Amino acid sequence: MKGTDVTILLDWLVRYGHVLGATLWVGGYAVLAFLIVPRIAQGTGEAFVHLAIATVRMLTYTGTLTMGFGLILITRTNGFSNLFGSTWGSFIIAGSVIAIVLLGIGDGALRPAILSIGKTGDAPARCFALIGFVLAVLAVGVMTGAMFIG
Ligand code: HEM
Repeated sequence: MKGTDVTILLDWLVRYGHVLGATLWVGGYAVLAFLIVPRIAQGTGEAFVHLAIATVRMLTYTGTLTMGFGLILITRTNGFSNLFGSTWGSFIIAGSVIAIVLLGIGDGALRPAILSIGKTGDAPARCFALIGFVLAVLAVGVMTGAMFIG
């Protein structure tokens, strides 16, 4: 295998890991917002609360993975030196900010809201899950935009 082949393979693997993590992030929020959290409100029992908490934990891992691969991807595309002052960089920074907010929503807002559904009702959990889903979809748009507009 030539040096250039190894480089291409690594580029692909990093992009693959990044997009796979992003897919799980978007999908996880979709499942939470449209399937799991509404079921908890219907009084379907503790099992769905456990499932929701496990899904939020999975989102923390996949989100961190997405961000980690994203940082490596910067070094394998336009580089950190082009991050500030370019349209491409602005898109990447915007996507990164969304990613940080997403992690915060999952751990800081959605998880406590799920755990207190019994006391406060399901509206806050549904709201945070929906916001997370919309932001994750937005992040995909911003990131894919970086490649074309930036
Ligand atoms: C710290 C956060 C993140 C960083 C540093 C980051 C970085 C990057 C970089 C450098 C690229 C390549 C752009 C290019 O080829 O010019 C990219 C592409 C992409 N990112 Fe991110 N990203 C982050 C978060 C996210 C999030 C939260 C999502 C979605 C949930 C996401 C989804 C994507 C997608 C779908 C692509 C296009 C990949 C392709 O078409 O090959 N990224 N990202």
